[in-house]
Amino acid sequence: MTAILSVQNLTKRFGGLTAVDNISVDFPQGILNAVIGPNGAGKTTLFNLITGMTPATSGRVLFDGDDIVGKPTHEIVSRGLSRTLQIKSVFGGMSVMDNIRIAVFAHQGISNPLRSSQRYPSVTQRVQEILEDTGLHRLAHANAGALSYGDVALLEIALALANKPRLLLLDEPICGMSPSETERTVEHIVRLAKTTNIILIEHDMEVVFAISGLITVMAQGQLLMQGAPDDVSKDGRVQEVYLGVPEDAE
Ligand SMILES: Nc1ncnc2c1ncn2[C@@H]1O[C@H](COP(=O)(O)OP(=O)(O)O)[C@@H](O)[C@H]1O
Ligand SMILES: [Mg+2]
Repeated sequence: MTAILSVQNLTKRFGGLTAVDNISVDFPQGILNAVIGPNGAGKTTLFNLITGMTPATSGRVLFDGDDIVGKPTHEIVSRGLSRTLQIKSVFGGMSVMDNIRIAVFAHQGISNPLRSSQRYPSVTQRVQEILEDTGLHRLAHANAGALSYGDVALLEIALALANKPRLLLLDEPICGMSPSETERTVEHIVRLAKTTNIILIEHDMEVVFAISGLITVMAQGQLLMQGAPDDVSKDGRVQEVYLGVPEDAE
């Protein structure tokens, strides 16, 4: 399988702490990749290294074969690698559709996003695609400031799709959601994964095992294993890090 992303000997130290410890792992394309591991395993740091938000101590990250380590985030995004942004990226006074429209305008390099989008059919088309892919068409004209927690999270995913990424990184997208919001968001992630490569960090094991094609397990900054859900759930090392069974216990 071809890797959409190849991490090679990647290390990040914060002072004396090695948050990501010489990780080498490939993320194949065309499959929903999940990254799991206990709190503090280094999952978010791994994403920050991939997207250039945190400088790596050493190592390489190949995206479509090009080393992107040390490149500025905006360059990485323009190459087609995207991640969900913080909640503050949502404009509360505007409709859901206008939020998405502005993000699409920005990515297409059009400087005045408030001009009529009728003049930019490519923008209108992309906005419609994103509304459908995220299920936000039902809220296209709603004020983004009045959305439920779960719908804000969907809007964040929608904004990350503005540049039509070839790889989308989602860091605990359903964290804090109600069961019905979780169900809806997971459905959209699964749908999205049919057209966009996704690497998903998620702590809800039920969701991870239900939807992932390949699971990468981290613990204490290191790669513990990578495998299909069945192999991961059976693996003694994985059970150990999750259940906290001491190594010398019988
Ligand atoms: N900016 C930072 N400065 C210092 N330590 C950090 C920083 N970011 C993360 N860490 C530490 O790195 C380790 C891995 O954190 P993180 O990547 O957030 O783990 P995870 O996402 O798997 O829960 C933790 O011990 C955390 O405290
Ligand atoms: Mg994290």
